[in-house]
Amino acid sequence: MTDYVDVAAANEVPNGDVIGRSLNGREIALYRLGDEVLATDATCTHGNASLCGGFVEPDGSIECPLHQGRFDIRSGRALCAPLTRDLTVHLVRVEGGRVSVRLSD
Ligand code: FES
Repeated sequence: MTDYVDVAAANEVPNGDVIGRSLNGREIALYRLGDEVLATDATCTHGNASLCGGFVEPDGSIECPLHQGRFDIRSGRALCAPLTRDLTVHLVRVEGGRVSVRLSD
């Protein structure tokens, strides 16, 4: 695991939406679900689509824009076909209005 790295201001992450960031050469997606800020890999595990162009659903899932696979944002769990592999989630810390992310291996 790497250390936490500052990636965004907390107010740059809109509630119920997703934005993208690049961290150590890895594309990540940042989400806000109410008071929670969460991070996952940005690339869908099914194909070469960015989840940053996807749709955050009210149940806390992200829908891939290419084939509509859905992942649970908090756990990364693949929720439906055509997905067969879970998404990697990353640790997030919010302090002083800044969002820091610690990449998983
Ligand atoms: Fe995401 Fe196919 S690329 S569901």
